[in-house]
Amino acid sequence: MITGTTRLFAILADPVGHVQAPQMLNAWFEAHDVDGVFVPLHVHLDDLDAVVQGLRALHNLDGLVITMPHKTAMAALCDDIGPAARAIGSVNTVRRTPDGRLVGDMFDGHGFVAGLKSQGIDPRGQRILLLGAGGAATAIALALAESGAGALTVANRTRSKADALKACVQAAHPEVRIEVGQPDPRGHDMVVNATSQGMKPGDTLPLDTTLLEPAMTAIEIITKPEITPWLEQARNRGCRIHIGRHMLQAQIDQMARFMLGEAAGA
Ligand SMILES: NC(=O)c1ccc[n+]([C@@H]2O[C@H](COP(=O)([O-])OP(=O)(O)OC[C@H]3O[C@@H](n4cnc5c(N)ncnc54)[C@H](OP(=O)(O)O)[C@@H]3O)[C@@H](O)[C@H]2O)c1
Repeated sequence: MITGTTRLFAILADPVGHVQAPQMLNAWFEAHDVDGVFVPLHVHLDDLDAVVQGLRALHNLDGLVITMPHKTAMAALCDDIGPAARAIGSVNTVRRTPDGRLVGDMFDGHGFVAGLKSQGIDPRGQRILLLGAGGAATAIALALAESGAGALTVANRTRSKADALKACVQAAHPEVRIEVGQPDPRGHDMVVNATSQGMKPGDTLPLDTTLLEPAMTAIEIITKPEITPWLEQARNRGCRIHIGRHMLQAQIDQMARFMLGEAAGA
């Protein structure tokens, strides 16, 4: 029951209707006996600064989850950010300290790898095609490099962002083979869609699915719809598929503990 002592938590997003953090974090609070409520806040990017200044002054607010399109802008609004967030330049979780300071960190990458491992998939030694070079893709690339991925190919609509992602990974993991290439799955063991292509009906496919082979694992990070069109086609071509919910599920525990001040970022 929500009472006067209930602590507040929220996700900042635009659009917001697809987010699943509210139901997942409210379930986590209930399971862990936390007197908290987690709500969706629909915030346009132009208004983020003003909204965040207001949230700083809310004394019963303890934490925020940040998603599209706010992760990079939010990093600049935090008073302090953790090492993963600093390397990536964006945050997806923020803790509000009792004195109104905002401390951010990024859990996308480790959540992605933990989600794979929860389903018995190990990226070690694998040749991986990563589609996208936004906030989530960058976090995933760093975590895959840290997890011993054999080789990474990054393909993105905006080439300069793929180049920046490559430079970021090379700076942190000079031992990892990474190149910027085309969205061509041939020669890879795993394909990861880390673009937002597939969220909206009518979106074009992120790659030519006729090039997928049954030995490949097709991995999605979009959570709604659960089966995106390219993932459906990958399944029809005999590929093992892995849905975006596993990444989200793996992050929930890390995010909740961070917002409650129980754990450092990862
Ligand atoms: N499962 C989870 O836990 C989880 C966690 C985080 C994110 N996600 C999902 O991951 C997706 C990406 O999130 P993000 O935070 O990385 O977003 P972002 O930083 O805005 O990046 C979006 C990426 O998608 C590409 N893109 C968007 N529309 C495109 C189009 N029409 N054609 C080609 N490329 C397109 C962008 O390419 P350009 O660089 O060319 O613009 C960029 O690489 C979202 O769907 C988000 O919901 C899921």
